[in-house]
Amino acid sequence: MTTTFELTRRPRRLRHSALLRDMVRETRVTRDDLIMPLFIAHGTNIKRAIASMPGIYQHSLDTLGEELDTLAERGITRVILFGIPAAKDAVGSDAFDDEHGIIQRAIRSIRKSHPNFFIISDVCFCEYTSHGHCGVLDANGTLNNDATLHNLQHQALSHARAGADMLAPSGMIDGMVLAMRQALDDNGFLHMPIMSYAVKYASAFYGPFRDAVDSSPQSGDRRAYQMDPANAREAMIEAALDVEEGADILMVKPALAYLDIIHRVKERFELPLACYNVSGEYAMIKAAAANGWVDEHALALESLTSMKRAGADIIITYFARDIAPRL
Ligand code: PBG
Repeated sequence: MTTTFELTRRPRRLRHSALLRDMVRETRVTRDDLIMPLFIAHGTNIKRAIASMPGIYQHSLDTLGEELDTLAERGITRVILFGIPAAKDAVGSDAFDDEHGIIQRAIRSIRKSHPNFFIISDVCFCEYTSHGHCGVLDANGTLNNDATLHNLQHQALSHARAGADMLAPSGMIDGMVLAMRQALDDNGFLHMPIMSYAVKYASAFYGPFRDAVDSSPQSGDRRAYQMDPANAREAMIEAALDVEEGADILMVKPALAYLDIIHRVKERFELPLACYNVSGEYAMIKAAAANGWVDEHALALESLTSMKRAGADIIITYFARDIAPRL
């Protein structure tokens, strides 16, 4: 009896040493792939912990600097901003208030204090409306699509004037990319890129985020505008529309439970593809790690790697700050 078999292939040959494994690795997460979300609150001297998102804070403008310094030291220089306004109203007017709007002030302040940062603003209304929905409501409580488009144009222009580098509409309003593109072009912002949340599902994974910005709908839910998690072909329609409307980057959200969607969008469309590793995905890993049940950093990196392997070029993730030193 021979002691060796005549195997033609032995894949284990390439796994023997770290040097070899590093050389044949197909997918890598780099700092350049990552975008860090930041929550900006009105007031001064605020660094408010978000209970369901350990390690993530609401910052007032005066405490934001230290967070940005830490990010810069770690090589994370792309951020997406979410604002918590002092007051909310029916249309979310803080969102297009050039002078006092929380996001407008944040953009101007970061521009000045940290000019090397790339500033993306989330363009939506749910953080700014008293009812918590992503736009204007009709008397019967349904979201009025085209009235919302007009307000989205105001919001987009206001963020652009404040100095944003890129706009990211997240409301799943039909025609949002086209409406914003027209308003931007008509006002000289021909080079302002739009990263569209093209495929955004009505997901329970957003729970902690809604705590963070206090944006849970007062009544009803978002299923009349965000997508049904059961649908994949519809995602292709949403992505195709945003390509036609002039989106520069497409996004799929959430990420981990939607890797098949990331893969399909990437196969079908040529635009750069982003995904959003959302608050619930972050919270699950943090909670399990706090119990000592999983290795936080290993799990985070494995998740982020799976998103890139599925086809994402860019990942918005709350892990960006803490995973960066390990990349
Ligand atoms: C809407 C918006 C949401 C998130 C990003 N933009 C929440 C929602 O649709 O309810 C969720 C992000 C996360 O869960 O991390 N402005």
